[in-house]
Amino acid sequence: MIRTHRCGELQKAHVGQTVTLSGWVHGRRDHGGILFIDLRDRQGLTQIVFDSEEQASAHQIASQVRNEFVIQISGCITLRPDDSINPQLPTGEIEVRATSITILNESKPLPFAVEDETQASESIRLKYRYLDLRRPKMQQLLALRSNVAQRIRGLLHESGFVEIETPILTKSTPEGARDYLVPSRVNPSEFFALPQSPQLFKQLLMVGGVDRYFQIARCFRDEDLRLDRQPEFTQIDLELSFVEQEDILNLTEHLIREVFHHAQNIQLQNPFPRYTYDEVITQYGTDKPDLRFDLPLEDLSEFSKSSDFKVFRTTVESGGLVKGLVVKGGAEFTRSRVDHFVDVAKDMGAKGLAWVKILENWKLDSVIAKFLNAEVLQQYLPNAQPGDLLLCVADTPFIVHQVLGRLRTYFGEELQLIQTDSWQPLWILDFPMFEYDEETERYVSLHHPFTSPAQDSLPFLDTDPLKVRAQAYDLVLNGFELGGGSLRIHSAALQQQVFDLLGIQKEEAREKFGFLLEALELGAPPHGGIALGFDRLMMLLGKTESIREVIPFPKTQKAQCPLTEAPSLVSQNQLKELFIQTTWKA
Ligand code: AMO
Ligand code: AMP
Repeated sequence: MIRTHRCGELQKAHVGQTVTLSGWVHGRRDHGGILFIDLRDRQGLTQIVFDSEEQASAHQIASQVRNEFVIQISGCITLRPDDSINPQLPTGEIEVRATSITILNESKPLPFAVEDETQASESIRLKYRYLDLRRPKMQQLLALRSNVAQRIRGLLHESGFVEIETPILTKSTPEGARDYLVPSRVNPSEFFALPQSPQLFKQLLMVGGVDRYFQIARCFRDEDLRLDRQPEFTQIDLELSFVEQEDILNLTEHLIREVFHHAQNIQLQNPFPRYTYDEVITQYGTDKPDLRFDLPLEDLSEFSKSSDFKVFRTTVESGGLVKGLVVKGGAEFTRSRVDHFVDVAKDMGAKGLAWVKILENWKLDSVIAKFLNAEVLQQYLPNAQPGDLLLCVADTPFIVHQVLGRLRTYFGEELQLIQTDSWQPLWILDFPMFEYDEETERYVSLHHPFTSPAQDSLPFLDTDPLKVRAQAYDLVLNGFELGGGSLRIHSAALQQQVFDLLGIQKEEAREKFGFLLEALELGAPPHGGIALGFDRLMMLLGKTESIREVIPFPKTQKAQCPLTEAPSLVSQNQLKELFIQTTWKA
């Protein structure tokens, strides 16, 4: 037998037993006649003792091993002497007195040590990901991910969902990113697109009578990467027939609450609070607010109308907004620190950041103080007190919300306002159906083009598309968008009308989504669904800094894999077979 036990499981109760263990040499301490090896496997560590007087040959072999050698040992479990008991270690009361050792494989010195607190850079960790994965913390994250996937499968099966796989080689499914394309050798010049999500297939499954579908689905999006974005990621993807928005929100909440409870013993509030899109944008400047800290946006537009500060007054007169943040105790900050905030705001897209220190008796300290009436200002800022710092942005509503939303997040971290042990989920409802993209001069979907408009806003499709509300919802947790979904359009005519509005011509719609339009004409039931970002969920549950920590083999910010060095050049022959010529220069 290669092993009788795992390294993490041996206890006082095993004392006297003869065991065989296999694993990696985590560390060794050579005290001359006595040599200690910490033997590691996935479950933990056990201390092995080699005594030259008891077993000279085993001791001799043990003295040749180095860290990360793979070895097998046999021996008898004994209690450690009182002074060497290690209460930090689950196996800290015992040790194995080795009678034999076999070296199963040697190892060169590693590029970095297998320890939880590693100093290794991320690029080295990713290049040697298989070594990085030996670190106990990474093993725990892998196990947690597996555990959560298992639980989700169980819960969904119990609720009557059928797990179904959908194609990876498929046609473009627009979710707002670029497609990854795969050339077809047998169909020269034609390409598959990797799915940005299983969106269209899950809708077709509803037309196919499946009723309740789920999939732990891989998605591919060629977009700019961030700490919570990967080009290849996983969704917990659901679709249901004959449901209302309320059914989907309740089911998703139940799923998330169960998973948090089961995986980390965290009790999330019940029910999750709900906000409309307009409410979160107005109050927090973003559609994914972190509610673990306060700091709402204060509206000073009314105040600015009568203000002598020209920038403020003219901005409001021309349809813009003036809003601010009240930073508690900020009046004490040095001028250079405040100037730094101004630079931060400018980097976020602001033209300027007006700052006002509120001193004792509401005396104002600011380069624009002479333009401001402190008494009136005080009425508009019920949350502000002497000692606070007011920071304002005057601009279009879009810029004001974008900058102050980001600045709010920045202050959450910079001023350590975030309650790090708190969990704040929320739903965002009543999204607008469309945004107007100034660059392309077209309406674009906020969710995706298959989202159903709210019944009562259907008339606006013809008259004022920006007023149309979507039956869409996002789930946000601690400032991250954890999931999103919608009720879908199930009438071909309405779907065509939405395509028209988005500037997708009939011809193009037939070519791209003809199969969907046809299916909608052949008895499509009302349906809707949601997709939760599984990697983001694991990042939050695992309390990791980035999504890359919870993906076994992630890509870098540049969408590369340092381990396999993908993507890479391919031979001319391969290209020829695919009828591809690379003529564009990067
Ligand atoms: P959406 O595009 O909002 O919706 O995606 C759903 C969730 O997937 C996660 N996610 C990502 N995670 C990591 N890296 C990425 N690049 C990435 N992009 C998205 C987010 C997000 O909330 N088909 C629709 C869902 C539906 O309508 O049912 C969709 O894909 O957590
Ligand atoms: P100026 O008159 O341009 O020197 O600006 C006076 C103050 O107002 C400076 O502190 C600027 O940062 C600030 N400021 C200028 N434009 C804006 C704006 N659009 N929003 C907020 N503050 C601004």
